[in-house]
Amino acid sequence: MAILNIVKDGDEILRKKCKPVAVITDRTLRLLDDMADTLHKAEGVGLAAPQVGVLRRIAIIEVEEGELIELINPVIIKTEGRQNEVEGCLSVPGKWGVTDRPAKVTVRALDRNGNEFELEGEGLLARAICHETDHLDGKLFYDKAVRMLSQDEIG
Ligand code: NI
Repeated sequence: MAILNIVKDGDEILRKKCKPVAVITDRTLRLLDDMADTLHKAEGVGLAAPQVGVLRRIAIIEVEEGELIELINPVIIKTEGRQNEVEGCLSVPGKWGVTDRPAKVTVRALDRNGNEFELEGEGLLARAICHETDHLDGKLFYDKAVRMLSQDEIG
């Protein structure tokens, strides 16, 4: 297990479209473990593979402490409603913005054993699923921010 370097905004790798994982190998599993270490160290809610320099469709989310969600080749298959909440990103330090996201999403993905599963999320989990899957398509939260917070609002 290792702490990986988090790529920061301005690095073109964050703007690339990631390739699907064709076969889950030991390397995939090691990446997932290292991403979890990195997420915990950074005290973030989610992390996508391109943020650690890997252009594969892999993301992790931990909204509830100790409940790590691993998503391999995630696809959002259903959305419902909308929410406008404040969002940030480990790759975009110091910036926060209000995004326009679905209130509820259903994502289909593979787990680390290669088994397909579906997960439904609301609120923060829904935002995190959208945010992380966006990363896999080279999109950052501020691309679709309704407005960015000012320095005064950040405090
Ligand atoms: Ni992010």
